[in-house]
Amino acid sequence: MREAPGQGPGDRPGEGPGSLPRLQRSGDATQLVVDGAPFLVRGGELGNSSAERAHLRSSWPKLEALGLNTVVAPVRWDLVEPVEGTFDWSSVDELVEDVQEHRMRLVVLWFGTWKNSMSCYAPDWVKSDVDRFPRCRTSTGEPLEMLTPFSTANRDADARVFAALMRHLREHDRRHTVVLVQVENEIGMIPEARDRSPEAEAAFTSSVPAELLAHVREHGGRLAPELAPAWEALASTGGGSWADALGEGPATDELFMAWHFARYVQAVVEAGKAELDLPMYTNAALVRPGALPGQYPSAGPLPHLVDVWRAGAPSLDFIAPDIYFPDFAGWAGRYARTGDPLFVPEALRSVDAAANALYAYGAHSAIGFSPFGIESIEGDAAELLAAANDVVRQLTPLMTAHAGDGRMTGLLPPADDMRTPHRVRVGEVVLDVTYERQSAPSLADGVINEAGDRSTDGRRLPAGAVVVRTGQDELVVGGIGVTITFSPTQLGQERVGILSCEEGRFDEDGAWRHLRWLNGDETHQGRHVRLPPGRMTVQRVRLYRYR
Ligand code: DGJ
Repeated sequence: MREAPGQGPGDRPGEGPGSLPRLQRSGDATQLVVDGAPFLVRGGELGNSSAERAHLRSSWPKLEALGLNTVVAPVRWDLVEPVEGTFDWSSVDELVEDVQEHRMRLVVLWFGTWKNSMSCYAPDWVKSDVDRFPRCRTSTGEPLEMLTPFSTANRDADARVFAALMRHLREHDRRHTVVLVQVENEIGMIPEARDRSPEAEAAFTSSVPAELLAHVREHGGRLAPELAPAWEALASTGGGSWADALGEGPATDELFMAWHFARYVQAVVEAGKAELDLPMYTNAALVRPGALPGQYPSAGPLPHLVDVWRAGAPSLDFIAPDIYFPDFAGWAGRYARTGDPLFVPEALRSVDAAANALYAYGAHSAIGFSPFGIESIEGDAAELLAAANDVVRQLTPLMTAHAGDGRMTGLLPPADDMRTPHRVRVGEVVLDVTYERQSAPSLADGVINEAGDRSTDGRRLPAGAVVVRTGQDELVVGGIGVTITFSPTQLGQERVGILSCEEGRFDEDGAWRHLRWLNGDETHQGRHVRLPPGRMTVQRVRLYRYR
């Protein structure tokens, strides 16, 4: 793998106490601000059992070579509170120290009550005391290894240790190595859509909470469209139970569970923020197409449930998707449309991660992207992710300056049923984009590769880019396997041609270093801009208008 790329703004924790990381609105976007400057998380999430010092030691050279500025890593309840009320922070301190030593930042994943629906990170004293810390149950009364969200004992135990963790970070991480905190991990009800423990059954037959009804009435037409019938029913209910208001069924069960999961998370977040007010989010396992609540980990922070989570957990800053499904753009878009900042704490570590990252930052001003199991990434996927991170690092000043101002976009091959070219507008210019996902035959220099996705050499390559409009007719484009032609936004307007195109890179000080002018075959004699397949490039393009 190539050498570690240089650092970007805010990448390394300073020596003295820094300012508290925070979220800040910028145009239509929300940015993460670290040490006073917008920060893009070039992250990698460690495997669940890979964050301990001795095990992680050998992975650091790889994490550095990947150009990460942030490690996303679990902090485990069972390790930090092995005995009730007695805390052992050694695993946290070692992680923070090691991250600092490698000049990165840390996203803490709080593996508390829930980890992928289950409660496997609850300490022994919680797991083995089922009377005090009750579990969810199935409709036939079977206990599940999932703490029920309907128990105040469960909730308070989690809130207490989480508050202690945040207090510990406040006192021992004065440089703010930790920039974000994920509260719990992939909460979700499975294999049935509703907890049937006695506590849950009592809540199900009691009235729909007034706070939820007030939120629905107040936010009217801005609520998630997927649940429009449920919002209507809730807005017009005269009171009564969940079943009275919404009828019986898996969709009602999911709404009900989402509310109670959110209330539980709210208590944990509130307790933690009272100690250290870092930005906090929670993540979701996504829904397989066609699956019903209960067939997937339901009631988690999914986009169709965002309003329930907002109303139930108002202290939570945002919800986040773990995107393993192939339709990366679709899921990223659904989360971005909620109005929350886009942060992808887990993504498939395939070759496509490199292109997906560029797309997320470009199309949605994402605050971060982080493939899962990062210490295990190999081969093309690793090479290309390192190259994408290098592009992101180079373009961070531009991308953060243009976050949410409508002058930036991301390019990713659209779903198969969409015809090429893919048309994308950036301000006053339309980009017609085609994608090449294979190495071009040598004779095809500058020509769009007609072979489409069929690989000639067995390698499947990613295609995607970020585009920033830096001036009236000036663009900076960074990515791979993308060919762009330009046109005006309306018929009859002057045509758009290429004045110049150059390849280069932005230095650590933000200065553009010219490498070469691209023309002739490289722009198909002035017809297009092409980021060749197989390697990441950054190009600066000047356009002009002609009749
Ligand atoms: C999603 C979870 O959030 C991760 O902790 C991990 O279990 C991955 N799935 C494994 O693919």
